[in-house]
Amino acid sequence: MSNTSPPLVLVSNRGPVTFEDGGVSRGGGGLVTALTGLASHRDAVWVASAMTEHDSRVSHQHGGRPFTVQSPGGGEYRIKLVDSDPEAYERFYSIFANPILWFIQHYLWDLSNAPDIRRHEVEAFEFGYNVVNEDLARAVLEEIEDVEEPVVMVHDYHLYTLPALVRRARPDAFLHHFVHIPWTQPDSWRVLPRLIREEIYDGLLANDIVGFHTRAYRNSFLQCCRDLMDYEIDPDEGIVFCRDREVWVRAYPLPIDYEATRAVARRDRVAACEQELLRRRRDHLILRVDRADLSKNVLRGFTAFDIFLKQHPEFAERVTFLAQLMPSRTDVPEYAEYLERIEALVAVINHRHGTPDWMPIQLKLRDDLEEAVAAYKHYDVLLVNAMFDGMNLVAKEGPLVNERDGVSILSENTGAHEELGEFAVSVNPFDVQELADSIHAALTMAPEERARRARGLKRIVTARDPGDWVDDQLADIRRKERVDAGPATTARRTG
Ligand code: F6P
Repeated sequence: MSNTSPPLVLVSNRGPVTFEDGGVSRGGGGLVTALTGLASHRDAVWVASAMTEHDSRVSHQHGGRPFTVQSPGGGEYRIKLVDSDPEAYERFYSIFANPILWFIQHYLWDLSNAPDIRRHEVEAFEFGYNVVNEDLARAVLEEIEDVEEPVVMVHDYHLYTLPALVRRARPDAFLHHFVHIPWTQPDSWRVLPRLIREEIYDGLLANDIVGFHTRAYRNSFLQCCRDLMDYEIDPDEGIVFCRDREVWVRAYPLPIDYEATRAVARRDRVAACEQELLRRRRDHLILRVDRADLSKNVLRGFTAFDIFLKQHPEFAERVTFLAQLMPSRTDVPEYAEYLERIEALVAVINHRHGTPDWMPIQLKLRDDLEEAVAAYKHYDVLLVNAMFDGMNLVAKEGPLVNERDGVSILSENTGAHEELGEFAVSVNPFDVQELADSIHAALTMAPEERARRARGLKRIVTARDPGDWVDDQLADIRRKERVDAGPATTARRTG
C-alpha cells in the first residue's frame, strides 16, 4: 500500500469514544488503547457499534455516515457508529459475546454447572450475534463500495462471523482480523454446538490473516483449525489451508504507546492525585488496576494478601493494597455477582486485619486513568494475577512510569508474560500461597535487584510502540498480497 492508498477501514464493537449525557468519554479496554494510535495517525475510518442510547442519537444525527470526533484521551478520529436493534444487541453483547465466547476464551466455565446451551443461547447467536455482525458488515461494505482491493482490519471476538459476509460480497477485499483475547485449546470450544462453532471458524477463516498477541494463542488457533475443522495446517509457517485459500496466522504482541502514557503522567491532575496518595501512604503500597472481570482473578489476589498478612504480622499497619477496579459488563449477571463478591471479601479482610487507624485494602470502583497513573508512579508491588489474559497492558504501563523500582508480580498466563516474565516475579494465578510468598519476596527484595528488574521492564516496554505493531501487520498484508498475486496456491483439506 502506498501513501495514496484509500483509508484503512477498522471495525470493532467498541469504538474510541462513548457518548453520554452532556459529553463524551474514552472507550475502555485494551482494544481501544491499541487502535487509538492507528486511527488518529493514519487515514482511517473506524466502524463501531452504537453502544448507548446517546451513541445511537449521535449516529442518527450524522445520518449513519462517518464523522470526526475528538477523544477526551487525545486524538481525533473518523468514526461511523452503527445502530443495531436493541434486543438483538443485548443478545449479542450480554448473552453470546459475554459471557459465552469470553468465558470459552478464558477457560472460565465451571463445566459441571454451566453453560446450558438452550434455545435462549442458540437464538442469541442467530438473532443477536449474527444480526450485529451483519449490521457492521453492511456498514463496512458501504465504506469500501468504490474502493478497489480495500483493506479491512477487523477486531476481536465480537466479530467472528463478519469477515465471511464481507468476503462473499467483496472477494477482492483484504481482510485482517486481530483477536485481542487468548485463543484456547480445541476442547474448550466443544462447549458450542457444532453448527455454531463451524460458523465461527468459517467466519474467521474468511480472513487473509488472523493475528494474536502471542505465539501460544497462534499455535492454539492452528490446532483448533486442524482438530475441530479438519483443515490441514502448517504449524511452522503458520498457515491454514482452507478450501482454495491460505490463511496466515501470526503473533503480533501489542506494545503500549509509551510516549502518550508518559504525557498522561505529566498532567496536573495526576500530580494532584499523587499528593493525595502520598498523604495516605504507608511504608509499602501494593497496587492492582483492572476491569472488574472474572478473568482478572481479583478474589484470589485478595485471598493471597489475607494469607500474607496472617503469615507476616510484622507488616500490619505498614502496607496498603490499593485496588482500582473499573466496573464492567454489569448487565451480565456473572459480572454483577462478581462485583458483589469482591466487595464482600474486601469487607471481611479489612475487618479481620484492619485497625481503627488502618484499612489494609482500599477499593476504588471507578474508571479514572489519571488516578491510576498517579498510583502507577508510587507502587512498590504491582499485582497482575489474571487467570488468563490476552495481553494485559497494565503490566506494561505500570513499570513504564513507576518511580520506586516497583516489583511486578505477573501471572504466567498473561500474554504480557511472554515478553516481561524474565524481569517479573512469575506466579501461577491459582496458587494463592505462592502469591502470598511472592508478595513477601517482592516487599523484601534487595534494592539492587529491584532496580535491575525495573530497568529490564522499562527497556522492554519502550522498545516498540503501537505504530510498530501496525507496521508489522501492514507489512504482512503487503507480503501476502504479493504471494496471492503469484502462482496459484494449493489448498488442502485432510480426511
Ligand atoms: O481488550 C480486550 C477487551 O475485551 C476488548 O475486546 C473490549 O472491547 C474491552 O476489553 C472492554 O470490554 P467491553 O468492550 O465489553 O467493555
